[in-house]
Amino acid sequence: MSSASSMPPLPAFPPGFLWGASASAFQTEGAADTDGKGPSGWDAFAARGRIKDGSDASRGTGFHERYREDVALLAGLGADAFRFSVSWPRVVPGGSGPVNAAGLGFYDRLVDELCANGITPAPTLYHWDTPLPLDEAGGWLNRDTAYRFADYVSAVADRLADRVPLWITVNEPAEVTLLGYALGEHAPGKQLLFDALPAAHHQLLAHGLGVAALRAAGATNIGIAVSHSPVRAAGTSEEDRFGADLYDTLTNWLFADPILTGAYPDENVAALMPGPVAEDLAVIAAPLDWYGVNYYHPMLVGAPAQDALGDFAGVGMPAELPFGLRETPSEERTAFGWPVVPDGLREMLVHLKDRYGDRLPPVYITENGCSYDGLDDRRRITFLDAHLRALHRAIGEGVDVRGYFTWSLTDNIEWVEGASQRFGLVHIDYATMRRTPKASYAWYRDAIAAQHAVR
Ligand code: NOJ
Repeated sequence: MSSASSMPPLPAFPPGFLWGASASAFQTEGAADTDGKGPSGWDAFAARGRIKDGSDASRGTGFHERYREDVALLAGLGADAFRFSVSWPRVVPGGSGPVNAAGLGFYDRLVDELCANGITPAPTLYHWDTPLPLDEAGGWLNRDTAYRFADYVSAVADRLADRVPLWITVNEPAEVTLLGYALGEHAPGKQLLFDALPAAHHQLLAHGLGVAALRAAGATNIGIAVSHSPVRAAGTSEEDRFGADLYDTLTNWLFADPILTGAYPDENVAALMPGPVAEDLAVIAAPLDWYGVNYYHPMLVGAPAQDALGDFAGVGMPAELPFGLRETPSEERTAFGWPVVPDGLREMLVHLKDRYGDRLPPVYITENGCSYDGLDDRRRITFLDAHLRALHRAIGEGVDVRGYFTWSLTDNIEWVEGASQRFGLVHIDYATMRRTPKASYAWYRDAIAAQHAVR
């Protein structure tokens, strides 16, 4: 298998830069009811047949059983860190009430295994798998969910803070709000359009309460993973510019502004938020040690257009919304059809730095990657190489980036797309759960080794 060693080496990243890979619980663990795990909203959604390719999401990649194999793959990669997520319903099966010691024990063993292999554990505390009883009580529309999250975070931190040096509270709250509560494409499947905004506020509150719970348990080095995409207007008409600006506000700034500045980006949006918003914003804006950026591709947005092809995770926008998505022109597309625009990563990071200045803490790229088929995945190598060069340019332009986690270590269950979109450096045969490193695994291993050598 080619390790693409013919490609020119990457420029040297700063000393101490962390090289990692990412994954999440629902997408990999399987073992949906092992050791007392309770159902998540996603388990219920999948059981209702909402996974498009009909794949059996309940088995994941078998990570719960095979985690040692995957840690060995990380070690073989020479990875510095592994971003995984803790399954809330595995730890608190009822969403509130008793902690499931056996469920928490799995993360104890995983963390020990990572540490024994010299790999920094970087857990995400919420990667979309809300305990089903909480979803049934309104999920993120219900303020109580944020408090239940803080209780769960305390339990996890009490157990793991002695060995975990890097924490992520919440993953991509914008996607949960938009896909889960506004459009209904993801669990819990609500189609509330703008009435979904309280779900954003309560996830932000959960983040803020989660930071406080982590600090109270002695955890340090706390961040969040937020998706960011440069938004370009599809045309010059007022409607196109309005649509693009609103989309930019809702996806890029609705979460980043409260977290980094303590204010919502738009008064009209703030007015739609529930509860004691000013008090909550003080909690939400608790200082962070670092800020995580998930980057996939830019967005082209304009006026609503029923015939336009949506490209937000394959979802078009309903005509009732005042914006519509267009296809971003691109010579190269991933298997998902996503455009490949590496410089968008540099552009977005520089934009964040310009917008927040010194209020932007050090940045980690918590996700970046692509779906392609096959073991000889040269297009993934080209993708990763180009994005890392763009990241290096951003560092050269003054953005303090401390690490990069590619999405993903192995193929996994891509939410509603099921097993059909393969983002891994390692191939999963879903019939046998056999792991086979792809060409990109060898390339990333060599790239990491070269970076370690120049330290
Ligand atoms: C974002 C999500 O955090 C992750 O779970 C997903 O698989 C990737 N993007 C790819 O869509």
